[in-house]
Amino acid sequence: MIGRICGTGSYIPSHRMDNVELSSLVDTSDEWIRERTGIQSRHLAKQETVSFMAAKAAEEALADSGLKAEEIDLILVATSSSETVFPNTSCEVQKAIGAVHAWGYDLNAACSGFILALNTAQSYIRSGLVKTALVIGAEKMSRIVDWKDRGTCILFGDGAGAVVLRGEESESAEAVYTAMAHSAGDKGEALTLQYGTEETPVIRMDGQAVFKFAVRKVPEIIEEMLKKADVSREDVDYFVLHQANRRIIEAAAKRVGVEIEKFPMNLGEYANTSAASVPILLNEMNRDGKLKRGQKIILAGFGAGLTWAGCLMEW
Ligand code: ACO
Repeated sequence: MIGRICGTGSYIPSHRMDNVELSSLVDTSDEWIRERTGIQSRHLAKQETVSFMAAKAAEEALADSGLKAEEIDLILVATSSSETVFPNTSCEVQKAIGAVHAWGYDLNAACSGFILALNTAQSYIRSGLVKTALVIGAEKMSRIVDWKDRGTCILFGDGAGAVVLRGEESESAEAVYTAMAHSAGDKGEALTLQYGTEETPVIRMDGQAVFKFAVRKVPEIIEEMLKKADVSREDVDYFVLHQANRRIIEAAAKRVGVEIEKFPMNLGEYANTSAASVPILLNEMNRDGKLKRGQKIILAGFGAGLTWAGCLMEW
C-alpha cells in the first residue's frame, strides 16, 4: 500500500503587503529585497488563526479529492507558529471540518515540516495503520517575526496548504514514493525561536549561515533521492523546493544540473511561508493543470533544527 496525492488546497490571507509598504516599517527597499531574495510581496493574516487557515486549506483539498471529511483517518499539521500549543492544530482542524473518524497531531520542523509530515503520513499508510490522510502546512509567521529586524521580517508571509493522501495497492512502493530526511542539531543556533528568553519570542537568524547550509544540503538530498530511487534527473518533471529565496533555488538548480524551468516558484508573491510553502505551490500547480498522473516530482525543503528533507514521488 502506498499513498498518492488525490487532492490539494490552500488558503492565502487577502491582506497583501508589498516591499514598498514594508519599507515604511523598516530601513529597507524594494530593490534590496528583490535582488537578495526575489520576494516582491507577502500576504499577512489579520484575524485568521493558524487553525482557521489550515482548516480552509483542508476543505479545499478534500473537495478536490472527492473524499468526505468522515473518510479521513489521519490529520497531520506541520506548524511552528500556532497560537495554541494545545489543543493541537490537528484537533482544531478535525473539529472545523467534521473529520469525526480521524486522529492526528502537529509536527514541528519549521520549514521542513510539511515534507516530514508527508513522509510520516506515507509511513502510516505503508504500515496499514491508516488508508487516508490529510497533510497540512500552516503558518502565521507574521506573529513570530521581529518587525524591527530588517534581516528577517522581509522574508516571511502567512498561509496554509494541504494535500489528501489515499492509499493504493502498488507492486513497488519505492518506485512511487521515496522519502529522505536529515537533521544537524549541532547547527541549531543559526535559526531559533526561544520561549522564555524574550518578552515576545521572535525568530533570530544567522541569514548567511542558513543560506550556505541550504545551497549545499538541498542539492545533496536531491542527489540522494535520485540515487535511492534509481531515477535520472532528466526523468523528473518538477523540483518543488521550499520557497525561501530565489537565489537558493537557482543555486540548487545549477548544482543539480537541471534547467531552472523545472523549479516552479511563487515566493515573489507569498514570500517564505515556512511549512506552508510547498503545499501552497503544489496546489497552484495542480490548479494550473501542470500536474499529471505518472509524472515524477521531487519535493525538498530545509529549515530550523537545522533540518532538511525530501521525497521523490510519482504523481
Ligand atoms: N534591507 C537593506 N539592507 C539589509 C537588509 C534589508 N532588509 N537586511 C540586511 N541588510 C544589510 C545588512 O545590514 C548588511 O549591511 P552591511 O554590509 O553594511 O553590514 C548587508 O545588507 C548584507 O547583509 P547580509 O546578511 O550579508 O545579506 P545577504 O546577502 O546574506 O542576504 C538574506 C540576507 C536575504 C537573509 C540571506 O542571507 C538569506 O536569504 N538567507 C537564508 C535565510 C532563509 O532562507 N531563512 C529561512 C529558513 S527556513 C525556516 O526554517 C524558517
